[in-house]
Amino acid sequence: MSENREDSSKEGTSGAPSVYDPDTLRQLLDRLDIQTLGDPVLTKLEREEADEKKAVHEFWNTQPVPKSTEVVKKDGPLHPPLSPDEIPKDPFALPSDQMEWCVVDVEDEEEMKELYLLLTENYVEDADSMFRFNYSAEFLNWALKSPGFRKDWHVGVRDVSSKQLIAFISGIPMDLMVRDKTMTMAEINFLCLHKSLRGQRMTPLLIKEVTRRIHQQGIFQAVYTVGRLLPKPVATCRYFHRSLNPKKLMETGFSQRLEPLQLSKLTSMLRLPSNT
Ligand SMILES: CC(C)(COP(=O)(O)OP(=O)(O)OC[C@H]1O[C@@H](n2cnc3c(N)ncnc32)[C@H](O)[C@@H]1OP(=O)(O)O)[C@@H](O)C(=O)NCCC(=O)NCCS
Repeated sequence: MSENREDSSKEGTSGAPSVYDPDTLRQLLDRLDIQTLGDPVLTKLEREEADEKKAVHEFWNTQPVPKSTEVVKKDGPLHPPLSPDEIPKDPFALPSDQMEWCVVDVEDEEEMKELYLLLTENYVEDADSMFRFNYSAEFLNWALKSPGFRKDWHVGVRDVSSKQLIAFISGIPMDLMVRDKTMTMAEINFLCLHKSLRGQRMTPLLIKEVTRRIHQQGIFQAVYTVGRLLPKPVATCRYFHRSLNPKKLMETGFSQRLEPLQLSKLTSMLRLPSNT
């Protein structure tokens, strides 16, 4: 300690600020988030698991999914088949007269453009709202027209006056194999609410409406993926990215800034062979 002090005082006399100068030390400590020192470093999943223990889940608690705390020991259907008269005939009521249900017609170019616009402006973003998924209309057309697709499972909500598409959720039929059993299920995707409609509990309505339409076809199981922890995952996994264009990613702020030499090393390390 005393040796260090001597060294640093030498620095001090040579004009460079000494870390033992009380003001410099305070500034350095201020720059550190010292409240987090000593806390265990949790991964995102561990943090979410801790939050999940306290979560109430007003909606998901009413749905046929296992509770977060439940230990699931056997696999099989979660939902028993319903008889036709147990399935509501009419769509669920929307919270305002200014909203109406619609079907987004995947065969109609204009409607696909509207869906593209809704998702491009409102779909999944990073935490800082710097980046958002940008699925092309062609990709959406492909993803929503899987074999056996049903038009009425592409559920939209429009503003009555402007006719603007303000919410969307989709289902496609799929045969899913769980261990040795194959079962027809629905895969739910592209859930999206216009930013102005967030926090108003519209999501449960969209999920219930697409579920009602799926039930009407005699299908009672569904799967979906989500970037947050909800009761209760069948599986969780971690994304790994391989950068295809490190320079571009750095310029847009997606990746951290690198010195030119580091960037060129990284670029050559990640270069793909010219022949696939
Ligand atoms: C996801 C999104 C529709 C949620 O909207 P919101 O306004 O935050 O949520 P709402 O008030 O409408 O509804 C809240 C309920 O929906 C549930 N919910 C929210 N996002 C969900 C999701 N992606 N999947 C399933 N349920 C979800 C919440 O858990 C909550 O239910 P709970 O009380 O039982 O926990 C909206 O944030 C959005 O459009 N985000 C951008 C696109 C996106 O992330 N889509 C999901 C891709 S998986």
